[in-house]
Amino acid sequence: MDAAKSRARGRGLGIIDLSIGSSDLNPPEAVLDTLRAATHDPATYRYPLFSDTLPLRDAAAAYLHRRFGVSLNADTEVLPLIGAQEGLAHLLLAVTDPQDTLLLPDPCYPPYFGAAAVAGLNVVTLPLLPERGFLPDLSAVPNHVRPRVLLLNYPNNPTSAVADAAFFREAAAWCRARGTLLIHDHPYAELTFGDYHAPSALEAGAEGVVELHSLSKTHHMGGFRVGFAAGDAGAIAALARVKGAVDFHPYLGIQRAAALALSLPSEVCRAGAAVFQERRDALLPALREIGWEVQTPQASMYAWARVPHLTDSVAFAVRAAEETGVAVSPGRAFGRLGEGFVRFALVQPPEVLREAAARLGGLS
Ligand SMILES: Cc1ncc(COP(=O)(O)O)c(C=O)c1O
Repeated sequence: MDAAKSRARGRGLGIIDLSIGSSDLNPPEAVLDTLRAATHDPATYRYPLFSDTLPLRDAAAAYLHRRFGVSLNADTEVLPLIGAQEGLAHLLLAVTDPQDTLLLPDPCYPPYFGAAAVAGLNVVTLPLLPERGFLPDLSAVPNHVRPRVLLLNYPNNPTSAVADAAFFREAAAWCRARGTLLIHDHPYAELTFGDYHAPSALEAGAEGVVELHSLSKTHHMGGFRVGFAAGDAGAIAALARVKGAVDFHPYLGIQRAAALALSLPSEVCRAGAAVFQERRDALLPALREIGWEVQTPQASMYAWARVPHLTDSVAFAVRAAEETGVAVSPGRAFGRLGEGFVRFALVQPPEVLREAAARLGGLS
């Protein structure tokens, strides 16, 4: 893709990069002020101890209660993370043994494959198919498959699919019946459109469930590297032991900024989400106008579209970058079942997204 983008530049084409899912919005100003003030406070310069993380743990527990009606103990059921990605890799190390089975959706966020490999896990994939709204069919998992962990993510990257509270109740019950830990990766919890509000898997109870939250998308703080894990006390304690050998929690100033972000009124997150909704509403009609088949997402910062002309997704993405300067992610990068699709990240203003669709429309 990089080489294709360079060739497009060489031909004088401006690049419209829709391939990377990093929010281009700024964090709330009050969050930045909190961080700036913290850098002037010498109390933030030392190693943060577990006890120093209490304000962020309290803010995370209060957020989960306010937003999802979930009551957790901030001492035993919540742990700050250096981002959800860090949290997932360490959580898998903490709760599994090598050769344990991990049930992983296909397609999925690509770092899941690496986290599974680092933990030495045996991956069994769970198909996410368009005809099932990209929700897995757990009843199709053979009885002899006894996974240590089931990993889910809704609102979903890359498909933008959403799941309701009943789905999480069923998934949690399925996991409890098998002694499987349900890990729900939830970085798009607040990136939802219109009247749609994403539920938490923790609404099905914290026992046997861990949810990973991130401020990267909800508060546009991807570079800050901060999030939190919440749920099953045994799994959280195991994660804390592994992290204790690896890191010292996020910088205290970032913890203060994150705690403030989590306590802001919900309208702050809604305003950011509305920007992505406006982009969705610009891109989708423009794609349909050039003959693309694409569902309207209710959440996330992506559009998952079928590649036209049955071309394979990598060949299409390379050709699109080279000939039109529009960079998208090939579906194959997200797993075998991602083939046939490409992912558009809604990380440009509406007029640029319309321009991207117009350029793609010129591809023969
Ligand atoms: C599903 C999913 N999980 C985790 C992450 C990374 O989150 P964080 O920035 O908190 O590590 C992303 C980022 O794109 C994602 O899409």
